[in-house]
Amino acid sequence: MEKIVSLCKRRGFIFQAAEIYGGLNGCWDYGPMGVELKRNLKEYWWRKTVQERDDVVGMDGSILTHNSVLVASGHVGGFSDPMCDCLLTKERLRADQVPAQSGMGFFYTGAAKKDGSWNMEKEYSVLVETEKQADKARKTAAQYYAQLAGKDVSHKEIELQGERMEPVTDSTMYNPANGSLLTEAREFNLMFKTTIGATSDENDPNATGWLRPETAQSIFCQYKNILDSSRVKLPFGIAQIGKSFRNEINPRNFTFRSREFEQMEIEYFCRPEDGLRLVDEWLEKRLSFYDEVGVPREHIHILDVPDDERAFYSKKTYDLEYEFPFGIQELEGIAYRTDYDLTCHQKGSGRPLEYFDEETREKFIPHVVEPSAGCDRTVLAIICEAYDEEELVDDKGKKDVRTVLRFVPRIAPIKAAIFPLLKKNEEQVRIAREIEKTLQPWMTVFYDEAGAVGRRYRRQDEVGTPFCITVDFETLGENDPSLKDTVTIRHRDSMEQERVAVKDLLHWLIARVR
Ligand code: GAP
Repeated sequence: MEKIVSLCKRRGFIFQAAEIYGGLNGCWDYGPMGVELKRNLKEYWWRKTVQERDDVVGMDGSILTHNSVLVASGHVGGFSDPMCDCLLTKERLRADQVPAQSGMGFFYTGAAKKDGSWNMEKEYSVLVETEKQADKARKTAAQYYAQLAGKDVSHKEIELQGERMEPVTDSTMYNPANGSLLTEAREFNLMFKTTIGATSDENDPNATGWLRPETAQSIFCQYKNILDSSRVKLPFGIAQIGKSFRNEINPRNFTFRSREFEQMEIEYFCRPEDGLRLVDEWLEKRLSFYDEVGVPREHIHILDVPDDERAFYSKKTYDLEYEFPFGIQELEGIAYRTDYDLTCHQKGSGRPLEYFDEETREKFIPHVVEPSAGCDRTVLAIICEAYDEEELVDDKGKKDVRTVLRFVPRIAPIKAAIFPLLKKNEEQVRIAREIEKTLQPWMTVFYDEAGAVGRRYRRQDEVGTPFCITVDFETLGENDPSLKDTVTIRHRDSMEQERVAVKDLLHWLIARVR
């Protein structure tokens, strides 16, 4: 993972947000390569989900969200994670992710400053693996009490009181990083709240707005407008790609858990009797999609979420999980959510959200199947999957390692790089620039004339460019007249080369990068 994070920074895929100011935790900026990769992913998702289907339409909802929407959906009351704080470092942890630990607990009833100027009765404990680590436990405890004594007190000035030892089994009360006691778990709402308009009262519910925690809610809110304006009939879907925000307690694993991220969501509305069948159909569709963007299905784990772990309103949920270098983690959830969401909004808004079936003359609230994918997580999975280090041996037996991102061409940030073999050769430069201009309206290409051609290939390998086009002496008709007006195309993965006529280049490439 370290190598991937470093390549992403070095080659302009992903940077930490506000890095020059020390970084904004949980936020990331995509650089020139990253933005192309992400756009290609989103555009392919849109093409497969909306453009190539008759039964799905798109929308683009606002990020600022009305308080009542998220009250009705249950987010204001219940979109929270349990959190606890380390008493020593104040680090905040997800209480449900603290591993159960066993060992020797050192308990203290209080502490005093050695010069007698301060005394505190407050129970504290530290967990260490074995009794032999008593000094470590005492140091941690003394640091904690020193903090309570005042900011300039060193732990060496502290005398611990009432020490007792006791074995502790399977406890989630201690910070695994330092053995310090954690606070009791508290619920922490994950949404970012804001005040809308020039009001002086921050608590005025009419002025309260939220940054949306998922794109889904604006789809439910606009379902009726879309139904009335688009002549869609059940079953049909509404798709949306956009930013969502969650004040995650522990953003981590690079972009995997961020505070600002993009989702690609579909709400597929259907008749109640079709929900269970459709959730399986979507599972297949989504697995094929991952395959087509370079995350093979053999590397995706399908978790059929058990009854006691599903949301109470869901009748079936699949989690698609990917083998990231830091563990197997969720990429996408596909949930059959019954009529829960539309029923909540019908109640919350007082507006009828039923569907009128002209054939059966019945009115009912449609059920919904929701494939909800994370765009940033998919980008990360694509990069992890593409990353390769290949050992090469040259003609003289010298070994070398080539770093290459083996993106599928349709997702690669740059589709083709164009080189004149020699930058001093005016005719080669002219033809290479002309090829660049011909290809630019159709795809992202990159012109490079700096350095030896082998070095230029390697730079493109590192950003995953599938094809490098070189204009050489043969292109000019020198050496072999039959090769006039052809170029060399070097393939990233096999490193093999072939010649293609300049006039055929555009079609040759389009057939390979769509
Ligand atoms: N509308 C349903 C919904 O939002 P979710 O499982 O909370 O469901 C869907 O989110 C997807 O959004 C996840 O599978 C994940 O890919 C992405 N996602 C959620 N939280 C994220 C975060 N903090 N950082 C990056 N991606 C996240």
